[in-house]
Amino acid sequence: MAAAEKKAGIADALDEQFYQINLDILESFSKYRPPLALYRFREDVARVVLFCRAGDRLSNEQVEELARLVEEGLIFVSRADHPVYVKHISYQLDLVLVDKNLHESEIADIFAQAITRRLAEFFSQPVPLVFAKLWTDLMVLTEYLFQDIHRVRALQKRLHTEHNLENHSFDCGVLGLALHAKVHAAAYEGGEVKRKHLDHLVCGLFVHDLGLTKVPGFILGKDKGLTMDERAKVQRHVPAGVEMLGKLDLRFPEVEECVRDHHERLDGSGYPQRKIAPDISHLARLCGLVDSYCAMVTQRPYAPAMEPMKAMATLMQDPGYDPELTRALQALVLTTGKRK
Ligand SMILES: [Fe+2]
Ligand SMILES: [Fe+2]
Repeated sequence: MAAAEKKAGIADALDEQFYQINLDILESFSKYRPPLALYRFREDVARVVLFCRAGDRLSNEQVEELARLVEEGLIFVSRADHPVYVKHISYQLDLVLVDKNLHESEIADIFAQAITRRLAEFFSQPVPLVFAKLWTDLMVLTEYLFQDIHRVRALQKRLHTEHNLENHSFDCGVLGLALHAKVHAAAYEGGEVKRKHLDHLVCGLFVHDLGLTKVPGFILGKDKGLTMDERAKVQRHVPAGVEMLGKLDLRFPEVEECVRDHHERLDGSGYPQRKIAPDISHLARLCGLVDSYCAMVTQRPYAPAMEPMKAMATLMQDPGYDPELTRALQALVLTTGKRK
């Protein structure tokens, strides 16, 4: 049997219980103290044995031996260590693209953790340097999804249940993408969608509410109705967000549409410009729809979570939303069979 074939066979057999790691992944670990137990496949006895425990201090010789064994495809980590591995890899998200042994559901866990954390970092410090990290991770996500846009379905099963700005933004990003994938499935299959368009619309969906970082926390956390003045302050998050895009030098039309128009409604009942249907882009309609839905089905300080079908029924009756998109979202929510 050829060496490569033999290795592939080994990997297949072990795939259920272990992840095989490659040099990129090894290099992302602390060199002398791997963060989780490593296992070595012993060809002579045809089984996996412990190479080192989590946090063990390795000697120089062991470090060299480890690199050689990894190169030969003989080093594994246990799937039982999934939480440690997910956390670790989520700090260096591009590894997801090179690790061929991760299952789709595991990749979805990693993306959910990484992107939510990056969003939280950005919202607590919305400056270009921190945004750059979020952008890098979003581009790993689009690289992954562009290969098969329907991969977003696994992410859709990982929406958050607790309400805060990063969770809400992640949920809107993912559900918005799922809806986009559903509505434009044929265009993806026909190769008509440009990667750049996906990059920019993903960014727009995930950061649509960045202006909320300028609204005082006590207003957002209020469990009672807002005063006129407080409501005006909340609504200011839209122009504040547009202004922030300028400072971040984020001047893509897709991002601007999401940030500027996600509270506009087709019947002119929205804000801040009270635009009407022809002036609201398809993407802004989509963003506004998933934004409302995600807020409605999550418990917020001022309102309990609504049942998904009840939320959908409310949206269907509201002339502010695009009926075609609303029907597509309802179908999506129904077929997923999940809470959201
Ligand atoms: Fe908003
Ligand atoms: Fe929102």
